Amino acid sequence: MNAIEYIESHRDANLAELVEFLKIPSISTKTEHKPDVERAARWVAEKLRGQFPSVEIVETAGHPLVYAESTQTPGKPTVLFYGHYDVQPSEPDHLWTTPAFEPAVRGGNLYGRGTADDKGQVHIHLAAFEALQKTQGKLPVNVKVIIEGEEEIGGASLYEFVRTQKEKLKSDVLVVSDTSMLAPGVPSVTYGLRGLNYYQIELTAAAQDLHSGVFGGAVPNPLTILSELFARMHDKNFRVTVPAFYKDVATLSRAERKALQALPWKLSQFKKTVGAPGLCGEKGYSVVEQIWCRPTLELNGMWGGYMGEGAKTVIPSKAWAKFSTRLVPNQKPEQIAKQVEKHIRKLLPKTVSCKFTVLSSGKPWVAPYTHPFFAAAHDALEKGFGRKAVFIREGGSIPFVTSMSDTFRIPCILMGFGLPDENAHAPDEHISLENYFGGIKAAAHFYQGLARA
Ligand code: BES
Ligand code: MN
Ligand code: MN
Repeated sequence: MNAIEYIESHRDANLAELVEFLKIPSISTKTEHKPDVERAARWVAEKLRGQFPSVEIVETAGHPLVYAESTQTPGKPTVLFYGHYDVQPSEPDHLWTTPAFEPAVRGGNLYGRGTADDKGQVHIHLAAFEALQKTQGKLPVNVKVIIEGEEEIGGASLYEFVRTQKEKLKSDVLVVSDTSMLAPGVPSVTYGLRGLNYYQIELTAAAQDLHSGVFGGAVPNPLTILSELFARMHDKNFRVTVPAFYKDVATLSRAERKALQALPWKLSQFKKTVGAPGLCGEKGYSVVEQIWCRPTLELNGMWGGYMGEGAKTVIPSKAWAKFSTRLVPNQKPEQIAKQVEKHIRKLLPKTVSCKFTVLSSGKPWVAPYTHPFFAAAHDALEKGFGRKAVFIREGGSIPFVTSMSDTFRIPCILMGFGLPDENAHAPDEHISLENYFGGIKAAAHFYQGLARA
């Protein structure tokens, strides 16, 4: 039996195993789920022990990461496969059709938190490793595996591990499946991601909450000031008003704009996925360019004052906002953070004080897809899905990719098996079973292809 036949005959077994993995609520941001996060790490390590001579659970200052190595093919390329076993919280739970941690199949999709981001995609590779090892006695290339547990919280433990284990991690290519395909039936290789700075601000006006009847009319309201602030962060063309925000943004080449334009991407499908009455975006750019190649500033949450049932007449003393900037080459995250802070402090009136915090920071990434390994990926996707693959950029962020690309100067192959409407980070997250099973075959073809490349 060859690897592909093995995969075909293990469809049910693989799916059942993935379901087991998905049932573990490994929510990295919640302390109460620490034991589940650790259980998920052990689950991954256990699975890898079947195929990798060396597997370790690396304890860190935060959540553990799983590291495995199989270096049994001298002369063949060394692959570093990266993924994350942690997931986002499931709230709001009442909007899930079936519970987030009770995976269920409906209409050709598997539903549950982590199905697409990223446990399902990690499992695609674990299943491919198993098929290759079981049918060939060993993996066709040298493989190093890092599956981390702090991706969704932008954790630092992984970078500490990379810093101290640089020699050990040395590889010829990074492989990641934590992105999406352009559309159903269009397997995709992602060659660019946006970076991300995440911020929080706290505004304080009065020393304590005040009766709005007794004090209202003379006292500054930090919630009003916060709203005014964010109303001024974009101009009428939806450009971010932070001075020099666009200064380092790489201009898109005519050739790339043309290539993006030619992709089988449908505005009607995008609008359907979004479900809003209309779109907005930076003037002068196509929607694809806006979401993949242009930087943005988004308000992610704001709160303060009375948010309970009924009415409460109060002037809040404080107001908060969480917001973020998506960054593109060649913007520098630290520099952008400084510019954003400076701009905000300038816009705010003297009547409030502001605490400004950068919660996390990650660089953008874009790379040419000229290395022969990209051709191997393209070829493997075509074999796995029976459809031609395309090269795309995406707007999401995976800081580890930039870090590896900077540290080792190796090609990074991002073959995503999610879909843009898979509801990652939202209720009813799912993965298409066609993509899951096609992905396992494509991954197996890819590792075999790398051995020939
Ligand atoms: N898998 C996503 C990143 C992603 C999503 C890439 C869609 C391409 C397309 C990842 O798990 C994620 O959610 N990343 C965060 C940033 C992280 C530092 C918390 C993001 O993009 O918001
Ligand atoms: Mn992810
Ligand atoms: Mn995510």
